[in-house]
Amino acid sequence: MRIDKLLANMGFGTRKEVKQLLKKGSVRVNEEIVKDAKTHVDPDVQQVTVNGEQVEYKEFIYLMMNKPPGIISATEDNHDQTVIDILEHEDAIFEPFPVGRLDKDTEGLLLITNDGQLAHQLLSPKKHVPKTYYAHIDGVVSEEDVVAFKNGVVLDDGYETKPGMLTILEAGPISKIELIITEGKFHQVKRMFEAVGKRVIYLKRIQMGPLPLDETLELGEYRELTQEELELLRNASGK
Ligand code: URA
Repeated sequence: MRIDKLLANMGFGTRKEVKQLLKKGSVRVNEEIVKDAKTHVDPDVQQVTVNGEQVEYKEFIYLMMNKPPGIISATEDNHDQTVIDILEHEDAIFEPFPVGRLDKDTEGLLLITNDGQLAHQLLSPKKHVPKTYYAHIDGVVSEEDVVAFKNGVVLDDGYETKPGMLTILEAGPISKIELIITEGKFHQVKRMFEAVGKRVIYLKRIQMGPLPLDETLELGEYRELTQEELELLRNASGK
């Protein structure tokens, strides 16, 4: 890869700004000053430094966010802040995007990456990657609802859902439940409850495939996945 592309990718400025850095003699490859922007480097075997600081090159970034309500899971939006807007600059430079969507008012586990292939695999309906949601429901959720979800319910557009595994944590005027589904239709959880005459009043995704939400993350906080977590996800997506 060209040295100017590598440094631009790693957030050292535009190609033009990087050119200036090179011209000033700030960049070294294996201790040697490199001034030519066209120089090819292999970041896996060569050591690149800028003003003496080693550059750790990586192509992909994998983030787990505890999405706060009020934020859109998209890369850009004309009205609202997006999950990408709230990333640190050093992460945003990788141009990541959210893996699937959570509604504006939904909280919880959102993966954000620039690895299009992994994202595609995780979202592919063929892979049936399960997603677990925790929700508060207006009304008493019953065993009948558990059976209905197990058999699949018919949504407002006539689509019959795949089986969902509904667990009642607390039944009451406001019920607390967990639901595992393997699909990701628009507003799916809310529409599944509408199909049985009930309304979701709070929704949080707590797990995606084998990956649980790190509950130490406050709303709006995020962190990189560990190597182990990434392997788990790759295995779950069959990548
Ligand atoms: N189902 C919904 O209804 N909303 C979400 O954000 C996610 C799943």
